Amino acid sequence: VERATETSIDRTSSRELLVDLADVPRGRLGTALENALRAAIRDGRLRAGSRLPSTRALAADLSVSRGVVVKTYEQLAAEGYLTTAPGSAARVPALQVAGDGRARPATAPADRWEVDFRPGTPSLGSLPRADWERAVRRGFASLTDAELGYGDPRGLPRLREALADYLGRVRGAVVDPAHVVVVNGFAQGLAVAARLLGELGFDRVGVEDPGSVQTSEMLADNGIDLAPVAVDGCGLDVSAVGDLRAVLITPAHQFPTGVVLAPERRRQLVEWADRVDGLVIEDDYDAEYRYDHHPVGVVQGIAPHRVLLGGTTSKTLAPGIRIGWLAAPPALAEAAARHKRQIDLMSPVLEQAAFAEFLSSGQYERHVRRTRTRYRRRRDLLMSLLADALPDAAVEGGAAGLHLLLSTPGVTDEAAVVRHAAGHGVRVAGVGSYQRSSGRWPAGFVLGYGHLTDGALRRGVTVLGDAVRAARAG
Ligand SMILES: Cc1ncc(COP(=O)(O)O)c(C=O)c1O
Repeated sequence: VERATETSIDRTSSRELLVDLADVPRGRLGTALENALRAAIRDGRLRAGSRLPSTRALAADLSVSRGVVVKTYEQLAAEGYLTTAPGSAARVPALQVAGDGRARPATAPADRWEVDFRPGTPSLGSLPRADWERAVRRGFASLTDAELGYGDPRGLPRLREALADYLGRVRGAVVDPAHVVVVNGFAQGLAVAARLLGELGFDRVGVEDPGSVQTSEMLADNGIDLAPVAVDGCGLDVSAVGDLRAVLITPAHQFPTGVVLAPERRRQLVEWADRVDGLVIEDDYDAEYRYDHHPVGVVQGIAPHRVLLGGTTSKTLAPGIRIGWLAAPPALAEAAARHKRQIDLMSPVLEQAAFAEFLSSGQYERHVRRTRTRYRRRRDLLMSLLADALPDAAVEGGAAGLHLLLSTPGVTDEAAVVRHAAGHGVRVAGVGSYQRSSGRWPAGFVLGYGHLTDGALRRGVTVLGDAVRAARAG
């Protein structure tokens, strides 16, 4: 029945339905195809449920390389215009009709942007769906009846053991599985942290400046006062932490500057924490992706008694998986488990069992290795495009993670660059938008690239280059 009602462009001419790419220059084929498919989905020529041709068939029909079509499908899937799964055709998902009467993909908030440099999103099309599906099946089969009941709020013991092993091996952490609490993303880790801080009487917490607005606001929403602490080229300025007794930091790849916390600063941080009997909350959010050197280990490894370490699968797998973890200092482990119980009793066991399977089978590390290669290639392309377009700008924080920082000497008005780029369909954020105080960080722009195709990177850098030159001139 489904086959009879579904529309498929396999059976019609792709050219007729989509676009004629004959006059499009080679370097713009991907963008042109993406735009054409987006338009066809928006205006209803490709209806919800439509099956797209295979990448091979469409490439042949349009006389483009298959790689162009594969990347286009990946990009549209990442934006929510298509759903893809290994071994089956890409499809147009259910649409919702926006207030202006135009159909939009139900899941694509970014559709007004031709290129969205937002940081913090991995390549969503890279989730190894078949491997994850196998892990879900095996994980589900492994669950005992007892494990389906109300269990340990810290999470399944086998997942905590696999995490402790992984964090020790890959991140240089010192973790006892008994002190791990599985959480629904680092966001929930912060809710646990906020309760711990409240209980300890640490109701004013140092946050990096510039820093993640999202994570610090989460602490603030849980009743914690924020004290901005400057970040410089060596990371958090520990000498400015003063009398505070807790800080939230991203030492492996500072968000958003990309600075790695220098060894001397790490030592100072631990000395400070010992001196004030304080707590460091370490957000190890994208540290698996380090391209040019060996991974930089966690601060937790040199001071497990002082650090509440948090991690997430949101950058390695996908934010929608919602699996994260905390490794608590021994003295706070019982309280962390208690707060997790108070929040939601425990995390879903099916996901936990699947992730335990994924980790202990080696799939997780294989996936990280594979995606690291992909992201490194995107980073290399972005850096070379930036070097050509803006030779006097400097790139920082590109050695790791899924975003980098472009410093643009001579730009005094970041907002003018942001407006100019937005007028040309490119979303980019100035580093100033991550700054709480008037700040010392020079003008620059945060460029998330992990989720962007080559075509999008090219287009984005062209627009950004024009925008920066216009701001300098104006
Ligand atoms: C700095 C930082 N850390 C961590 C996270 C991950 O949060 P979660 O694990 O809840 O997806 C984010 C997400 O926006 C972030 O910006």
